[in-house]
Amino acid sequence: MELINKERLWETVHALAAITIEGKPWTRRSFTAKYNEGREWLKNQMQDIGLEVEVDAAANVIGRLIGTEPNLPSIVIGSHTDTVPDGGRFDGIAGVLAGLEIVQSLKEQNIQLKHTIEIVDFTAEEPSEYGLSTVGSRAWSGNLTTEMLSYTNADGQSLAEAISFAGGNPKEINKCLKEKDEIALYLELHIEQGPVLINKNANLGVVTGIVGIQRFKIFVDGLPNHAGTTPMDMRNDALTAASEMTLAIERIAGKKYEQPVVGTVGVFNNFPNASNVVPGKVEFQVEIRSISEEVIDQVASQFLSEANSIASRRNVGLKTEKVSRSKAIIVRDEIKHLLENSCRTVTDKVIELPSGAGHDANQMSLLAPVGMIFIPCKDGRSHCPEEWAEKEDLYLGTKALLSAVLEFSK
Ligand code: GLV
Ligand code: MN
Ligand code: MN
Repeated sequence: MELINKERLWETVHALAAITIEGKPWTRRSFTAKYNEGREWLKNQMQDIGLEVEVDAAANVIGRLIGTEPNLPSIVIGSHTDTVPDGGRFDGIAGVLAGLEIVQSLKEQNIQLKHTIEIVDFTAEEPSEYGLSTVGSRAWSGNLTTEMLSYTNADGQSLAEAISFAGGNPKEINKCLKEKDEIALYLELHIEQGPVLINKNANLGVVTGIVGIQRFKIFVDGLPNHAGTTPMDMRNDALTAASEMTLAIERIAGKKYEQPVVGTVGVFNNFPNASNVVPGKVEFQVEIRSISEEVIDQVASQFLSEANSIASRRNVGLKTEKVSRSKAIIVRDEIKHLLENSCRTVTDKVIELPSGAGHDANQMSLLAPVGMIFIPCKDGRSHCPEEWAEKEDLYLGTKALLSAVLEFSK
């Protein structure tokens, strides 16, 4: 019996991917009108399949297929439908739509499971304009604090306001909190976003662990002045100081540690950003990732100490602010085995690998056992318009995910 409809799955992925800002493939930033449009499309799909649809206080979109023993904790299959700016067509939506295909197939074949299955599009998994990522899954795990709800975007709008715009109710965010016994298992299918599966000629990957992520905002305060009249030795240039700090994180994270680590400056704003003004102010963001919490701490503390020395030597002000920290996770052996066996029902080219990308699974691991299946990523490229997965691999990954659900719910 062919349970997964390969063509339908492929079509739904491309239908949702096509809901993108015009002229900016592939962009559906969280808390924008396009994002809401994509989620309306998703809710309609869920309704058409006959799922019970809910938008919770954190604006998470949930489609429920009720099991024959509704008092059992549910199986949650989730991911996200927001993208980075100029992102790809698979990051996030592949996982949500694989889940949707699974419940649609189960319904069509009249297969009733004991467990209720919830398909969840978690709100704002990517770093949002408010600085925070995994917003929706944080609300479930209890890691969305009141302080975080007051984070603002460049226009001064708060994250709480943005959640309302997305259809949530930030005043009732605590209602999203899940008890530890509410979820039996969390599963997520995702494009690998790196080159490992392709290089090893594997069809599917079972994720062994997911990196932790530490993000900082860094504020450098110099003295804006005339670029023509201020001598080189009389400047307090915020940009050159921030540039030196950027090179410092590259150097520090590039050293050898007991586990691999990466450090990136991906947001960098210079003020007033005029060719004839010595930069007076720079705000930038640093993120550090590793599967080892200790290594993240080591790199972070060395970076902060060097940033302080650079600031005092260059005579500029420095303020650092922790934006977020998500903990690294290790996938439990029994879940790895479940997924490994499920993957092997569809292909023998299966390997294990850790995830350098963060996922909603990080937050979900605080509530339930989690497992992830990766599908290969063309040229290892992701978070860019060229991101690509093959139809066959998406199909195999979804079949494997379904097989895991059936086995778990037996
Ligand atoms: C999510 O895509 C992340 O790893 O930042
Ligand atoms: Mn992403
Ligand atoms: Mn993702």
